[in-house]
This record gives sequence, C-alpha cells and structure tokens, in this order.
Amino acid sequence: MPDRSPSLPAAGKMRHDGGSMERCTDPVALAQWYPLAALDEIAAPTCHDTLLLGATVTVERTTAGVCSVADGSRPLPARTRYGYLWTSLGDPDHEVFEIPECDEPDRRVVNAGSITVATSAPRAVENFLDMGHFPYVHTGILGAEPRTEVLDYDVTTGADGVLATRCRFYQPQAAAMATGGQISEYVYRVPHPYCVMLYKSNPTDPARMDVIALLNQPLTEETVRAHNLLCLLDDVSTDAELRRFQQLIFGQDKTILENQWPRRLPLAPDAEMPVRADHSSVAYRRWLSALGVTYAVIPAGSTA
Ligand SMILES: [Fe+2]
Repeated sequence: MPDRSPSLPAAGKMRHDGGSMERCTDPVALAQWYPLAALDEIAAPTCHDTLLLGATVTVERTTAGVCSVADGSRPLPARTRYGYLWTSLGDPDHEVFEIPECDEPDRRVVNAGSITVATSAPRAVENFLDMGHFPYVHTGILGAEPRTEVLDYDVTTGADGVLATRCRFYQPQAAAMATGGQISEYVYRVPHPYCVMLYKSNPTDPARMDVIALLNQPLTEETVRAHNLLCLLDDVSTDAELRRFQQLIFGQDKTILENQWPRRLPLAPDAEMPVRADHSSVAYRRWLSALGVTYAVIPAGSTA
C-alpha cells in the first residue's frame, strides 16, 4: 500500500485563519480545471489528501506513474499538463487552458514551488496583475524608486478571459539571469477565473518572451495553494536558481497578500477605489461578475 499522508496544513488551521470550510456550490467554480500538485512532487507510489474548493480530494499515483483523483468514492477527471496534475469537481465543457510555449523544445518548464497563502485565489490573481507594487514590494528587483510610474496600457476582455497588453516597467533585475536593469515589456492573460499568467521580455532574445503562470488551487474561499510555473528561455541558470528567484519574489507577495482584507475579492464597482494602474484589475473583477463567479469573491450586491 502506498503512503497515505496529508500534504497540507490541518483543516483546523485554515478555520483559524478565517476561511470557510464549506464545500463550494458555485457552478461556475465547480466546472473549472484546477492544479492539485506538481508531478515531480508526487513520488510514486503515493496516496494523499488535499483540499479543493472546500472538498477533500485524494490524489493517488501508482508505481507505474499513473495518477488518479477521487472525491470520496467518486472518481474525478484527471489531466497532466505543464508538469501538474489537474482535476475538476464538476463537468467542464473545455480542456485545461492552453500554454503553447510549454511545448517548445528549448523552454525550461519548471515548477518553482507550490505555496499556501492565507488569501483568496482572486486576490492572488489580482496581485499578480498589478505592476504598481513592484518598486515597493520587490524593491531593487522588479522595481525601484523613483521609477514608480505605471505607464498606460491596453486591456481587452473576451471569451478567452482578460488580456492586458503594451505593459512596460523599469526593472533593476528582471529575471534570475539578468545582469542589469531593463524596461521589461509584459503581457498579462487571465484565461481562468483563478489562474493568471504573464509574458515578459526575455533578457537575451528580443523576439520571444518568458512565460510565468500562477496556477491557483483554491483550498477554501480564503486559502489558496499557488503553484508557480516557469516556462523560460534560460540556458544559464540552474533549476535551483530559477526556483530561488521565483520564491524570493512570491515570498514578498505572500506577506502583502496575507495582510489584505477582506480576503475574498469584492466585485462591487465601488468597493475599492481604482487608480489608473488598476485597469486590468477592474477588467478582471468585471469578468468574474459577468461569468457569475460567487466563490472566493464578495459578489456585487452582497452584504457578506
Ligand atoms: Fe509581486
């Protein structure tokens, strides 16, 4: 028999942190695909429990390497994409969203860490979209005073989610392999209500972009496990160096995220005052409202 060991903080701790442990009933959230674990962290054979949308799900991997997921005695769909195991508690009418760059043979596709954060998945997405915090939270790395201005950029919302283009920001050390400052160009994409990714100019190849994704596994409404996917053009750094750089950045974000209140993301247009740098955040909140998402957010008109 494989080991059966919980891989996450005890449920009691999450209750203490304020997150509802109730199972999700939001049909939009239930019908999405979610990452559960990096494949390179599921040693075969293994069997362990994790949380998804307030439900305990069991991940099993056989000696032959085959992964399966179950909700009690109910088998759940399973996919392996981008180095992660994915599942759904519902019946998605689509596959896991595409990241074509992960199939390019010269890319480094690395899980840079799966980190539990005491906040909602939408707060983690919104923070990832926000360039304005770079000089203050990632000082000397992704930004530095006095170059704090977020230049105007374009945002569109369509069937595939939210897309922010023409984003630019001065960065002292844009990537693990960077040797000096640069104006980084970004494209942000939100292809999933709880997952977000960015395309960022690469320090060595002006024609192609690095890809970084924050693949969120909502454990509860107010607790998230953030899987950090890197898909980079970098033949210099070791995997350990790439992970160390990303975890340094995300560790800085984790502190900020855990101090934001309320933890669920308010969707009412007047809930938090937007500034110019928040165009993508406004578009993201509107998109969640239009989709009818109610899990891990405070819907417009709600008094919760
Ligand atoms: Fe950040």
